[in-house]
Amino acid sequence: MRGTRLLIALIVLVAVAAAGYFTLVRRPELPAERSAGNFDPALVAQGRALAAVGNCIACHTVPGGKAFAGGLALPTPFGTIYSTNITPDTETGIGTWSEAAFQRSMREGVDRAGRHLYPAFPYDHFTLVTEADNRALYAYLMTREPVRQEAKANELAFPLNFRSLLAGWKLAFLDSGEFRPDPAKSAEWNRGAYLTEGLGHCGACHTPRNRLGAEDSAQHFAGGEAEGWQAYAINEASHAPIPWDREALAFYLRNGWHRLHGVSRGPMAEVTGNLAGLSDADIAAIATYVADRMGTPSAERKQAADRLQQQIAGSTPAPTQADSQTVPPAVAGMPGAKLYAAACATCHESGRAQPYGGLDFRLSTAVHAPNPQNIVNVTLFGLPPADGEASAVMPGFAASLSDEQIADLLAYMRARFASGEPWRDVTDMVRKTRSGEHKVAVRPADGIERAPANVGAEE
Ligand code: HEC
Ligand code: HEC
Ligand code: HEC
Repeated sequence: MRGTRLLIALIVLVAVAAAGYFTLVRRPELPAERSAGNFDPALVAQGRALAAVGNCIACHTVPGGKAFAGGLALPTPFGTIYSTNITPDTETGIGTWSEAAFQRSMREGVDRAGRHLYPAFPYDHFTLVTEADNRALYAYLMTREPVRQEAKANELAFPLNFRSLLAGWKLAFLDSGEFRPDPAKSAEWNRGAYLTEGLGHCGACHTPRNRLGAEDSAQHFAGGEAEGWQAYAINEASHAPIPWDREALAFYLRNGWHRLHGVSRGPMAEVTGNLAGLSDADIAAIATYVADRMGTPSAERKQAADRLQQQIAGSTPAPTQADSQTVPPAVAGMPGAKLYAAACATCHESGRAQPYGGLDFRLSTAVHAPNPQNIVNVTLFGLPPADGEASAVMPGFAASLSDEQIADLLAYMRARFASGEPWRDVTDMVRKTRSGEHKVAVRPADGIERAPANVGAEE
């Protein structure tokens, strides 16, 4: 009796495992099909705007390379993953993908052949995209110029190179399915949630990840990492000295800068640059949703912000006097004080208007955040000029300041402009960043060509 029960249990177990294997691990190949290519131009235009929100071109294009042809290296803690060619080339791109195959890849992270894709392709967000929006994206991609370019092989350590393992990852972390609106919220909030959590995949950078590379949903928007930069907290934990609100967010996302928050830099510059194609209504919807996630600032934070705004409005910037008059002697005597006055104050206390003038550091999230990585990046590499445009430019100081000098400088700036704990191990961080051990994507800041013309003219 016992033997048969055991046998039955075993058979059931094997059957369940096999069923699991076939439904989860092995996904069917979908037939190769060439799209007819006769898409409605309105649908293609809609797809173009959606692709901008999804930042598809940023990940699927090597700088200076052919658009959407893939090959960009995405470093992850598990190894390097290369983006694939998503032009309609039939041999090396997705030219033989039916719309159904494309819809499935966005919803489930599976390619046409049925292989699981790595979540470096943010399908954990794209799964929310509606069928109609995926149709428009498909029309847009299928009408791009086909480019013949083989995808590069990923460099992942054993056993992560086995894609079937991703079935387990998906079981644990992928909540597959189209966005479901929250009926308790407004239509604008829901539109914002759809764009932010779905195509916009803001959480892919702004939410910390667990050891298996999945976003930690308990810490939604609490701050993450992207291409060597800190993607600051954009929830109630935000370190912005003046709390973000709906209007400031909408302005920043629309223009790539805000006078109380500075310019959008690093990987964020690409995001705001891409959002330029979005309608004002959609930008407002994203701002409404993100502002709601940030919540109302505490009375204490609000008071501090009001005081700061008054101070800034009332102060005439005078770099040479500032130190002696308003800075406590212990801070003014720090070794970084002179470096700051010589190298930074000329621009950052010049009173020149944003975005072309350096931000008043009392307003800077970079100086108030717990991790100084972004300020290290900006100090070493500066903000390179954008091609052929008047731009917010800052020189890099890699050639003129040593690791220790930059650490001294940052210690001074932290003590003078922010109230947080002193930063630790900055010399080491500077050394690793300078040597490339910590890789940083250096890009021009955004907020340049779209700044109001009169702002740059103010000297
Ligand atoms: C953060 C980077 C990133 C972004 C943003 C991104 N992708 Fe990808 N995508 C990847 C990577 C990496 C892969 C390859 C994954 C793999 O090899 O498993 C990929 C794979 C794909 C594939 C599968 C192609 C194939 O040949 O298997 C499709 C389709 C795709 N992406 C479409 C898109 C679209 C459409 C967008 C914008 C809405 C987009 N991607 C945005 C990184 C990205
Ligand atoms: C590719 C990664 C990436 C994506 C995607 C991304 N961000 Fe960012 N974001 C960053 C980084 C990095 C920074 C910090 C840049 C800097 O030094 O100013 C940043 C900064 C910001 C800031 C300024 C925070 C502050 O206090 O200074 C806001 C607001 C913001 N992002 C909102 C968003 C929203 C909304 C989305 C989605 C539409 C989004 N981000 C998508 C990487 C990203
Ligand atoms: C030639 C002018 C110039 C000089 C010199 C300069 N900066 Fe800047 N800096 C800028 C401009 C312009 C920006 C972009 C506007 C902004 O966001 O502040 C900027 C931005 C920054 C930011 C980002 C601020 C934020 O949170 O938005 C940091 C950090 C920074 N600079 C640090 C420094 C340090 C440290 C020095 C001295 C070693 C320095 N800068 C010298 C012009 C300058």
